[in-house]
Amino acid sequence: KPVFVLNGPNLNLLGTREPEIYGTTTLADIEALCRQTAESLGVGLVFEQTNHEGALVELIHTAGAKGSAIVINPAAYTHTSIALLDAIKGVDAPAIEVHLSQPVAREAFRAVSYVSLAAAGTISGLGARGYELGIRAAVQLAQARAK
Ligand code: DQA
Repeated sequence: KPVFVLNGPNLNLLGTREPEIYGTTTLADIEALCRQTAESLGVGLVFEQTNHEGALVELIHTAGAKGSAIVINPAAYTHTSIALLDAIKGVDAPAIEVHLSQPVAREAFRAVSYVSLAAAGTISGLGARGYELGIRAAVQLAQARAK
């Protein structure tokens, strides 16, 4: 079963979006890094981005049915979405939360993460490298469960 890497709103703008915070790495660059990582681990990868909360909910459901584990950057929905929290709680796949930036070091409203209440772990502040680490962690959790 593949690992699902799910990306939330505005992450399609990476490369030109607030480069002083997010750098100039594009989402395509991140996808390439994720594919490289998955390949080195011998696992499949599904990589998606959407700006819509309900679409993310449905992608989490699909990941629960067809995937081994979830790596998710919920972007702004991190701080607002009980629907995403409930979706992750509702599926039987471990989820790793990833943020490019370090949200707790930014505005106060970014210090709260609903998704963290359901995530097995969180990787923040390491840029695109966080996705690679997230995939490694997610695959290890999935493999430990399968034993
Ligand atoms: C983000 C952090 C969020 O607070 C923000 O809304 C984003 C990106 C990150 O990757 O650092 O869109 O999830």
